[in-house]
Amino acid sequence: MNRAKLCCYFFVFAANVMLVSSVGEPNIIFIIADDLGWNDVSFHGSNQILTPNIDALAYNGIILNSHYVQPSGSATKAALLTGKYPIKLGMQGDPIQPGDTRALPERKLLPEYLKDIGYVTYLAGKWDLGYTRWNDTPTYRGFDHHLGFYNSWTSYYDFLTTTTVNGKDYSGLDIRRDAQPAWDLAGQYATDVLTDYAVGTIQQHDTTKPLFMMISHLAPHAANPAKPLEAPQETVDKFKHIIDSGRRTYAAMVSKIDDSVGAVVTALEQKGMFENSVIIFMSDNGAPTVGEFRNWGSNYPLKGLKGTLWEGGVRSPSFISSQLFLQKGRVSNDLIHVTDWFPTLLSAANGDVSFLDLDIDGTDIWSSLVYNFDTTRRSTLLNIDEKNRNAALILSNFKLIVGSTKNGTYDSYYGETGEENLEPVVYNTTAIAKSPAAKAIDKVSYSPTSEFEYMSLRELATLRCLDPSVKRTECDLSDGGICLFNLTKDPCEEDNMVNFLPSLVRQMKRKMVVYREGLVEWQERNLDIENSDPKLHHYTWNPWRDCADATCSA
Ligand SMILES: *[C@@H]1O[C@H](CO)[C@@H](O)[C@H](O)[C@H]1NC(C)=O
Ligand SMILES: *[C@@H]1O[C@H](CO)[C@@H](O)[C@H](O)[C@H]1NC(C)=O
Ligand SMILES: *[C@@H]1O[C@H](CO)[C@@H](O)[C@H](O)[C@H]1NC(C)=O
Repeated sequence: MNRAKLCCYFFVFAANVMLVSSVGEPNIIFIIADDLGWNDVSFHGSNQILTPNIDALAYNGIILNSHYVQPSGSATKAALLTGKYPIKLGMQGDPIQPGDTRALPERKLLPEYLKDIGYVTYLAGKWDLGYTRWNDTPTYRGFDHHLGFYNSWTSYYDFLTTTTVNGKDYSGLDIRRDAQPAWDLAGQYATDVLTDYAVGTIQQHDTTKPLFMMISHLAPHAANPAKPLEAPQETVDKFKHIIDSGRRTYAAMVSKIDDSVGAVVTALEQKGMFENSVIIFMSDNGAPTVGEFRNWGSNYPLKGLKGTLWEGGVRSPSFISSQLFLQKGRVSNDLIHVTDWFPTLLSAANGDVSFLDLDIDGTDIWSSLVYNFDTTRRSTLLNIDEKNRNAALILSNFKLIVGSTKNGTYDSYYGETGEENLEPVVYNTTAIAKSPAAKAIDKVSYSPTSEFEYMSLRELATLRCLDPSVKRTECDLSDGGICLFNLTKDPCEEDNMVNFLPSLVRQMKRKMVVYREGLVEWQERNLDIENSDPKLHHYTWNPWRDCADATCSA
């Protein structure tokens, strides 16, 4: 580093320290895409679906290339909002279904803590954590306001959620504004509805208070089985280079999320809130590329899919972006688990997490993000599913995986490459530099990232599988088999090293046993479908066990 450069780093450092210490609690915008694949954002190296706003924000922040989530949505959201591994909540199993009596157990949640510090809290979108009674729903669990859905899927225009139980269909409206069903929104596109709500919230925000907004997208989760993929035709038409029509519609669904990110960033900048904001983007789990709720996503080159403990199920396409960071524009390979956001965001909010009842599994990584310090997390549990007898954990870049998920059907599955095009496409860095997100960044940032830097960051964020010439050892997980992978050189989980590193395997098994001791048994799925039937509740999905209460439906 030459002298001139050194001087400028110091200047930036000093300026940022002043910034960090002179402004109030940062606004926190937490964006969750639902069932988005590793390979479906263009900052990871796919040319097929250009995501210019997402990429611009990622390149101006920190790309989190080893950020792990749970294999399904309810579990990931439970981990995020409690800071605990889902095995401690009985939430390690199947996602919550329409008419399911399960709910996130009573715990003080992240938005409740943030409210204590003075935040105004909003949820735009999907809840996914139960709605048997009002006390289970978002506005009773820490969110001042909610516009969105209780169930984990609904249709993108009419907001009807349909489920089939024992051959019978149950269907009703699943969108509401706080407690009230929002029939007026039917006919608009879901991602636009959530974006308008988020933008309107920012525009009307009283900036003397910090804002916490979780934008929990419906997209690109499949909608009702009869019509799984929905996007505006003019957006679908932008993807004429994609051969497969399902994949084309999926690309449009992702593109609408990208537009949403651009609109939210623009609104923050125009309101003068952007410089003091932290924006996190992640997917709740990998894409279901085949099977139930298939959405035509791609986790390539990662193995497996949603619902499995392979990298394709649990390694989330993610980044965090904030002008508060001293070293923006980098790729982090630090191990991060979704539980880490709980202490990290509280730390960002007031710098003190000592008041927490620290029975949490998350690690506070705020100073690592701001100052590029090393993180302290060396291992994470990925899950223990005691019913289907599978589990996985990571220790120092090694992953131990025990027993098959989904009967082993996907134990050597990689899915489509997500690159099959009718015509060659290039990564259009001009489109990134001209995106609304990039324009907003340019107005406040010391160092707008150049197109050259875009390309080198993208290169760093792109995973490479083992060289084809490397000899591999097979992995067999049937009958509780155990495999070990060196994720640093083998992110595609091709070479099983379990027989070569016995002492590491022993150490990891011991860790697994310790985690197992803290396990709370699976809450079994428990459908009360007849009583929850929307027909009984003005054709809406309601907290049906509180229906004697006059507030149940309007
Ligand atoms: C796994 O196999 C069992 C027994 O054949 C079957 O009942 C179950 O539905 C299968 N599960 C999945 C996820 O395929
Ligand atoms: C790249 O994006 C810019 C700005 O959106 C657009 O004008 C240009 O036509 C695009 N180039 C290609 C090759 O698609
Ligand atoms: C794991 O892979 C990394 C990257 O190739 C390598 O440096 C390291 O030595 C490997 N670890 C072991 C124990 O083989």
